[in-house]
Amino acid sequence: MEVIERVKQYKQYVIDMRREFHMYPELSWKEFETSKRIKRELDLMGISYLSVADPGIVATIEGAKSGRTIALRADMDALEVTEANETEYKSRNKGISHACGHDAHMAMLLGAAEVLHDMKEELQGTVKLIFQPAEELVSGTKTVIREGGLDRVDSIFGIHINGFLPIGQINAQEGARLSSGDHFEITIKGQGGHGGIPHQGVDAIMAASAVVMNLQSIVSRETDPVDPTVVSVGMFHAGTRNNDCRYC
Ligand code: NI
Repeated sequence: MEVIERVKQYKQYVIDMRREFHMYPELSWKEFETSKRIKRELDLMGISYLSVADPGIVATIEGAKSGRTIALRADMDALEVTEANETEYKSRNKGISHACGHDAHMAMLLGAAEVLHDMKEELQGTVKLIFQPAEELVSGTKTVIREGGLDRVDSIFGIHINGFLPIGQINAQEGARLSSGDHFEITIKGQGGHGGIPHQGVDAIMAASAVVMNLQSIVSRETDPVDPTVVSVGMFHAGTRNNDCRYC
């Protein structure tokens, strides 16, 4: 049977799994129910797996003939975003949703597992299926690697859904695709004062705002224009009152 015909057989399965994952999103390093659900599916398929970077999972499909080892990876975690959609498969976990599409990635990888498992006799080599936790914290990948998830893997395919592409199209590229996440934290300390007599205090909010604006000069003045660079401040916490009064 043609691969595409095999894939079509599992279309509804992938849609159903995606909707189920969508209903029960879990945050980074807390994907335990998600992990259990994936293991149940792998058990039903008869695919063996190991816990790697728990709640992460690495499953293995060995082809009939020996060859290279290819890994396929899906991330598992959701975000602290309240879902605004009204669908029958809307998130049941308050304040959390699969807003980055990792529900789709897991469902797609389970669909691929079904197809590849069916094709075992034709496969030359081994396929590892990596379900990776905590993508959003930029720590899941490192833990998977540290715990041996990529040992003896010759090459790996990562995938991410993208709402900017027309339906039915995929876009592939070798090597790094997006900017990697590097976290930074800056603490700026001022001195308490009153908004009406600012010269008696040290305004940490103004200093921090200047830092946020000037961080962009890293991109415009510190890095080679032909090297893609992005600096983004994702969180900013400051102040306790609208007049910043700490002593009255
Ligand atoms: Ni994502």
